[in-house]
Amino acid sequence: MDNRAAAMANLMPANPADKERFAVLHRRFPTIAYLRRHARRHVPRFAYEYMDGGAGADTGIAHNWNALDAVELVARYGVSTALPPTDVTLFDRRYAAPLGIAPMGGPSMAWPGADGYLARAAQRARVPYTLSTVAGITIEQAAELAPDVLWFQLYRFARNDHQVGFDLARRADAAGAHALVLTLDVPVRTTRPREVNSGIAYPFRANPRLLWSIATSPGYLMALMRNGRARFACLQPYAGDKTDVNSMVRFMQGELRGAFTWEEVARFRERWKRPLVVKGILHPGDAEQAVSLGVDGIIVSNHGGRQVEGLPPAIDALPAVVAAVGKRATVMMDSGIRSGLDVVRALALGAEAAFAGKAFLWGLGALGEEGPTHVIDLLIDEMKATLGQIGAHTVAEARGVKVRHPGALHF
Ligand SMILES: Cc1cc2nc3c(=O)[nH]c(=O)nc-3n(C[C@H](O)[C@H](O)[C@H](O)COP(=O)(O)O)c2cc1C
Repeated sequence: MDNRAAAMANLMPANPADKERFAVLHRRFPTIAYLRRHARRHVPRFAYEYMDGGAGADTGIAHNWNALDAVELVARYGVSTALPPTDVTLFDRRYAAPLGIAPMGGPSMAWPGADGYLARAAQRARVPYTLSTVAGITIEQAAELAPDVLWFQLYRFARNDHQVGFDLARRADAAGAHALVLTLDVPVRTTRPREVNSGIAYPFRANPRLLWSIATSPGYLMALMRNGRARFACLQPYAGDKTDVNSMVRFMQGELRGAFTWEEVARFRERWKRPLVVKGILHPGDAEQAVSLGVDGIIVSNHGGRQVEGLPPAIDALPAVVAAVGKRATVMMDSGIRSGLDVVRALALGAEAAFAGKAFLWGLGALGEEGPTHVIDLLIDEMKATLGQIGAHTVAEARGVKVRHPGALHF
């Protein structure tokens, strides 16, 4: 069976062994919140603070959650009793659900080997997997693990006329990445207090407290022995001989500067022939600008509350962006997704797909290698139940559901 046929086979109902595995895990971890709670006890403190912490006092994270919780869907009854399918088409490719894995740098710090586990789980479930520029596996390795679902996210490396950025995009193209995602919402560097306080600030130094926290997390320690330390494999070819963490961080601090300007987005548009997506949009004017340059997709996002507090929740910014460009571009969202219900809320407000970040890291922290698959299964299971419950027969029908959305932004 070739890769594409194998991936299509993944759209078939899960086999009995998969169902059994899900049922067993579901008893212990029936929601993402259970995974989060377990992850906290299961990984060293620095790993948990890295995966869970936000900017400032985490208010951006809390606002994303509260805003999603406030969105109400008005169910209609008397139409159907079946659980609807969740498959969707994004940029002319069929995926099993309107749900993807958001790009995450350094996930292997949260759980050793995470990059590969995320890629494999996405391929198996046939949902988009976005490899971060700051990933621990190379683009080529990711393409081997996730040939049918790989997207590549790029940060701005402007030195030498974008030599590094253009080369990364060239490699992503050669590896067959379906879409290129340019992140716009990291114009300056900020810090996350929980992360800094846990000891993973630059310059990084292994100290007894940190080593003790690893030694007393046996599952994490075993994963570390099996997979080795987190690396910046994607960027390694551009950073010279030194591969230690501090040299790599120094390299990134020198090279990774600011966020793409519109003129730079246009240059990537010229070179990248497949779907081009910009991530981190909150203002419909920015969405308009991107689409006028030929961008195909928009990810409405506030970076999951990790960059700065005081931004509006992505879900509240979503409807205005959909109204502005939804007919001309594929509008998606991330920031705060913790359930299949949240995904359906995003669909009902006009998104064509939603991505999750932290939920996948909590899954890894709680269950290791099995975590990402359980997170996907949980979210799809909840999504089906929600669609069925509100009377939507398909993902597309979720868009016609009447919504009460008190936080919606008006421009
Ligand atoms: C540990 C971690 C690392 C991240 N690294 C990146 C990155 O390298 N590039 C990027 O565009 N976004 C990055 N993000 C942001 C996510 O892509 C996404 O916008 C965010 O996690 C969505 O919010 P959620 O975590 O509430 O689902 C990262 C998020 C986390 C949690």
